Parts: sequence; structure tokens; C-alpha cells
Amino acid sequence: MKSPFQFGKVVVGDAFTNRKDEIKRLKSNIENNVHTMLISPRRWGKSSLVKQTAAKLAGNKKLRFCFIDLFKIRNEEDFYANYANTVIKSISSKHEEWIALAKSFLSRITPRISFGADPLNDFEINLDMKRLTENYEEILDLPEKIAAKKNINIIVCIDEFQNLGNFNEPTLFQKRLRAVWQHHQKVSYILYGSKRHMLMHLFENKSMPFFKFGDVVYLDKIAKNHLTTYIMGAFFKTGKEIEKEQAEKIADTVKCHPYYTQQLAHLTWINTDESVTGEILEQAVNELLNQNALLYQREVETLTNIQIKFLKAVAAGEEQLSSTQVIRKYELHTSANISRAKKALEKKEIVDTLNGKVKFIDPVFELWFNRYYA
Ligand SMILES: Nc1ncnc2c1ncn2[C@@H]1O[C@H](COP(=O)(O)OP(=O)(O)O)[C@@H](O)[C@H]1O
Ligand SMILES: [Mg+2]
Repeated sequence: MKSPFQFGKVVVGDAFTNRKDEIKRLKSNIENNVHTMLISPRRWGKSSLVKQTAAKLAGNKKLRFCFIDLFKIRNEEDFYANYANTVIKSISSKHEEWIALAKSFLSRITPRISFGADPLNDFEINLDMKRLTENYEEILDLPEKIAAKKNINIIVCIDEFQNLGNFNEPTLFQKRLRAVWQHHQKVSYILYGSKRHMLMHLFENKSMPFFKFGDVVYLDKIAKNHLTTYIMGAFFKTGKEIEKEQAEKIADTVKCHPYYTQQLAHLTWINTDESVTGEILEQAVNELLNQNALLYQREVETLTNIQIKFLKAVAAGEEQLSSTQVIRKYELHTSANISRAKKALEKKEIVDTLNGKVKFIDPVFELWFNRYYA
């Protein structure tokens, strides 16, 4: 039998649990044409949440979702081409209609349309780059024009939004987007990504174009009771037994991190014939650490000695990181070392500081680090 647990890809339906409040908030934003900016560390479930919300609203024929992933997009031109293509394809499944839409709403850009062997999937609107740069507004207005004409609302979802930081002139580009998008009445945007510091800079800095663009949502991890219910349900449905305390232990071990909860539950499930035992759980944790060890080892190899010592202090739960006592105990020498190490580790997204407390971002890395370094 196949494991009911899924990780490493977007989950919807059976493998998706809870997020009821977040779905409600997204839905309400969509209904009220409020844009959403969604931020969390990687693998906490942003992409899944947006897809699940879209799935829940799929019955509403007045709404169309279109998904753009900036992960694959390297520059402004790529963005426009991708934006035009995904918006048009989200509207209809008939390629005659795609052509009609492209021709009537991108008249200044005069798009060329090409079809491959499978016209439904190998359809591409090719844009003349020179005309495009002069008329990018026409592209950015595309969803609003189409939505108005067809009397629908379009939700444009842009994943890994922080990647536009790699474009040539990121701030100018954001200004262009904002200048056009702020007039849209029938399009709402969901912009999401994982680089918290960078996204906060984009969305919460007064001098940035996307300041006060919409509702900024910091996605949380999933509450333990929901994860526990989910794990127990998935074991039960596949004819295996797990006790509540054991399911809780899975969630606790990975500090309710959604991805790792699924991964550890999966490892426990495949090692279990009928019912989970303490040994099975322990073995699953070892396997989890082993499967990720190479990655963590590589990460640690990029760290300086001072950074590693600083991490040891964090791992030991030291609260007063810049106290003389901690500096002496962990041979950090100076408090300047500490602030430098902290900054570097934040930049590498190994730790994060919340309410003045420095914490590991990755709970399994923390577990591994504790076992082998601390
Ligand atoms: N609501 C959820 N219920 C159960 N598991 C989830 C949920 N959201 C995310 N996950 C787990 O976390 C993993 C990463 O989710 P994903 O949506 O790709 O995160 P992000 O986009 O934030 O990087 C998924 O593959 C899945 O294992
Ligand atoms: Mg994602």
C-alpha cells in the first residue's frame, strides 16, 4: 500500500490538513479584492495553502486563478511573457479563444502565437521584445481587461516573489507593477515567498513600491492538535495503528514543521506493519536525520568556527547570548563576533530572531546539530 503522507510537493485534498482560518482570510481577501502578501519560511505550506484555497473556490465560475512561479523566471522580459501566457491560459481551454484574447488585448505588442504537437499544452504567445519594453503596461493590464470583458474576477498568484530581487532593476520593476496593478478592480494578487527579511523589506518599507499594497499574512506552522489528528487519521485509513501520544511525539520532534511532520510520519508509517512502537519511532527519527545529514553537513562546512560556536550556544538554549558568561563559555571572544555571526546565520537562513530570541529555523537541522555538535 502507498504511504498516505506526502512531502516535497504541493499538497491539496487528503494530504492537506486544517489551515481553516488562513483559507477563510484568503477567501475573504479575494472576495473583497484585497491583495495578499503571504510570508513564511520555506516548506511551511504557502504554495499548498494557495492551491487548496483555489481548489475550494473551483466551483465558482466567476473566478479564475492563475499561477506564476518566479523560481524559473530570470528577468523582466521573461516575466511579461510568462504573465501573458498564464493569464490567457487560465481563462479558457479553447485555443481559438486564446488567440482571440491575445489579439484583441495585446494589439500594440502584436504577439505571435505558436502551437506545438499538442496544441493544448504547447501553446506559446511569443512577444516581440522591443515592442514589449515599450508597451509593458499593455501586458500588465491584460488580466483586468479580460476580467472586465468576461465579467469575471481573476486571482493572479505569484510564488517565490522575492526572486524579482534578482532582476536587473528590481525597484523600477516593482514600481511598474504597482503603478498598473493599483488600478485593477477585478484582479486580486497573492504574492508569496520564503525570504522573510527580503519580503518584509519589499512589503513593509515605506520607500518601497509594494508598501501597503495589501494584507500581509505571516503564515504560522500548523497547530499540534491538527497535525496529530491528521497523522492518526492517515494511519487509521491505511489499516495501521498509532496512539495519540505517538502521533504527538512525531509533531513535537519536528516542532510542528509541516514538511518534516509529513516526512517523519511517512518514515514511521513505512516501518510499521500493524502498530507503531517506541523502537519504530526512534528508528524513524534516525532515518530522518540520516536522510538529511548530507545536506546539513554541507551547510555546516560553509560556516566559520565562530558561527559554529555561536550555534552551539543557541542550541544549548542560552538566552543572554552576548553576556560575558556566554562569550567565555563558548569562546566567542567579543560581542562584535556575536552580532556578526548572528547576522551571517540570519542571512543564510539558519537562524531567525523573533522577539529578541534567536532560534533555529530548521528543527531537524537543530536536532542533528545537537546530536553531532553540541
Ligand atoms: N496544510 C497542510 N497539511 C499537511 N501538510 C502540509 C500542509 N501544508 C504543507 N504541508 C507539508 O509541507 C510541505 C511543503 O509545503 P509547501 O506548500 O510546498 O510549502 P512552501 O510553499 O511554504 O515552501 C508539503 O509537501 C507537505 O508535506
Ligand atoms: Mg512554495
